[in-house]
Amino acid sequence: MRAVLRFRMTFPRGSARTGTEEKRYEMKITILMGSPNRKGSTHLLAESFKRGAEEAGHTCEVIDVCRADLHPCIGCVRCGYEGPCAQKDDMEAIRGKLLRSDMVVFATPLYYYGMSAQLKALVDRFCAFNSSLNRRHLKSALLVVAWNADDWTFEALTAHYKTLVRYIRFEDEGMVLGYGCGTPEMTERSGYPEQAYQLGKRL
Ligand SMILES: Cc1cc2nc3c(=O)[nH]c(=O)nc-3n(C[C@H](O)[C@H](O)[C@H](O)COP(=O)(O)O)c2cc1C
Repeated sequence: MRAVLRFRMTFPRGSARTGTEEKRYEMKITILMGSPNRKGSTHLLAESFKRGAEEAGHTCEVIDVCRADLHPCIGCVRCGYEGPCAQKDDMEAIRGKLLRSDMVVFATPLYYYGMSAQLKALVDRFCAFNSSLNRRHLKSALLVVAWNADDWTFEALTAHYKTLVRYIRFEDEGMVLGYGCGTPEMTERSGYPEQAYQLGKRL
């Protein structure tokens, strides 16, 4: 039997098995949208994921990383790796949202075999709340699209993502790797939006 419960205080997130029974709990999911294209391929995957997750009873918030007022980390370490950041921009609000979330989704186009610079700049700003993020054990997922369809297309990015997950003690829920998604039309014709939907739906 599978029951969707909404008691976030007692059971904060995810799913738990008790004997043969699986219980699922409502999660707050933050989607970090790392593509500047509002109607692009990354957007198609992120929206599909969101639809699936919302149908499964979760709450999603999309952060438009490319339009946020976000500056790259300047490495001053005045935060001491856990404290107020010297830079006053939208990261303060994003930090709060992430720490109140149960799951974070990294959505990005492949740019020179890594995540977009805009998304990477945000990730670097984790520096100022590194320990608190570590303690949250957030669930996470990666949604990515690329023009290339060679089998090695996502090697570097998936290695980076897995290392990040390991370091920050996230709990990976899955990756959707959109090979051959060079344009929104190509992506619409592919099975990747459906994969993203299913990933959200099964949470
Ligand atoms: C700056 C830039 C760098 C890119 N680098 C790669 C790349 O390294 N490998 C690849 O397969 N596609 C690359 N692409 C293609 C995009 O990943 C692909 O078109 C993607 O669908 C764009 O997503 P969007 O519609 O959300 O913008 C690049 C595109 C741009 C604009």
